[in-house]
Amino acid sequence: MPSIMESVLVGGGTGFVGTAFSQLLRSKGYGVTTVSRMPGPQRMSWTELAESGLPVNTVAVVSLAGQNVLDPTRRWTPGFKQNVWASRVNTTQSLANAIIKAPFKPKVFISISGVGIYQPSQTAEYNEDSHGGSFDFLSKLCQEWESVAKLPADLGIRQVTVRSGVILGRNGGMVKQLFLPFYFGLGGPVGRGDQYMPWIHIHDMANLLLFAIENNNVQGVLHGVAPQIVTNKQFAKAFGRALWRPALIRLPEFVINIAFSEERAKIMTEGQKVIPKRTLAYGFQYKYPDIDSACRQVAKLIPSK
Ligand SMILES: NC(=O)c1ccc[n+]([C@@H]2O[C@H](COP(=O)([O-])OP(=O)(O)OC[C@H]3O[C@@H](n4cnc5c(N)ncnc54)[C@H](OP(=O)(O)O)[C@@H]3O)[C@@H](O)[C@H]2O)c1
Repeated sequence: MPSIMESVLVGGGTGFVGTAFSQLLRSKGYGVTTVSRMPGPQRMSWTELAESGLPVNTVAVVSLAGQNVLDPTRRWTPGFKQNVWASRVNTTQSLANAIIKAPFKPKVFISISGVGIYQPSQTAEYNEDSHGGSFDFLSKLCQEWESVAKLPADLGIRQVTVRSGVILGRNGGMVKQLFLPFYFGLGGPVGRGDQYMPWIHIHDMANLLLFAIENNNVQGVLHGVAPQIVTNKQFAKAFGRALWRPALIRLPEFVINIAFSEERAKIMTEGQKVIPKRTLAYGFQYKYPDIDSACRQVAKLIPSK
């Protein structure tokens, strides 16, 4: 439990991850301010952040903003790619700048990134000591996103980068998009189905971010993925099982390439084997370490608050 009104500043706190994380923080007695493009209670705009700096008593800053890459309503145009890029890089940079300028420093800066920094492979295994690459749009984005989050070492602020897999929760992300097709028995694997699908339950992601705030020894890259490694087909089977539905209808790769454009369809049609070596070594305890328990929790018809 923090001392009275220790506060956390969350960039993108209105989103799928940000909402779950903010609720967890409040339940633990933290004050939460969200940096958002939209006004609202306990919010500040990105302009206010640049002008007025961090709110008082900010002990941690967490960067979670980002335009939804897999928004099926948005075509993969240069303009949309620019939004995807800027919504992560510029927001993270703004948080870093606010920390650099702040007269009273937070103790930790946590920034999310993605496992898309690793080259998709059926054979390579990646842990947090592995080097990311710059081989496509998403890997270059992750590199830039992580690099703007780096604070000058002499500030002495602890830094954590959480490279996240697909986050499973009923209220957002992939499950929200897949729920109805699976519910009506129309779900199944994407493409070949044997591509790895690094994943984590939203409850564990929110708790991992809190763990990174509260444990002063935690720093550097953490993989935000569950310890059980599954392929896309194994996920589809588990999700189907949790809904008591077959999951046999394969979504062909060419369809997804046409619908999403090949460059971003790769997020679904290719994958990486990602191991949470440091996350486990730090002693983080998962509530949903296996895909069956995670899918059972998210397979609810009515999303809960
Ligand atoms: N969900 C996943 O499976 C997953 C996996 C790996 C990594 N991540 C990363 O984790 C972060 C949070 O994911 P999420 O699923 O919570 O995302 P989300 O719900 O789609 O969006 C998070 C927030 O980003 C802000 N945002 C959206 N478009 C923006 C733009 N063009 N400019 C500035 N801000 C913008 C929005 O806040 P306002 O509308 O309040 O401004 C939104 O609430 C993202 O950076 C995402 O890339 C997510």
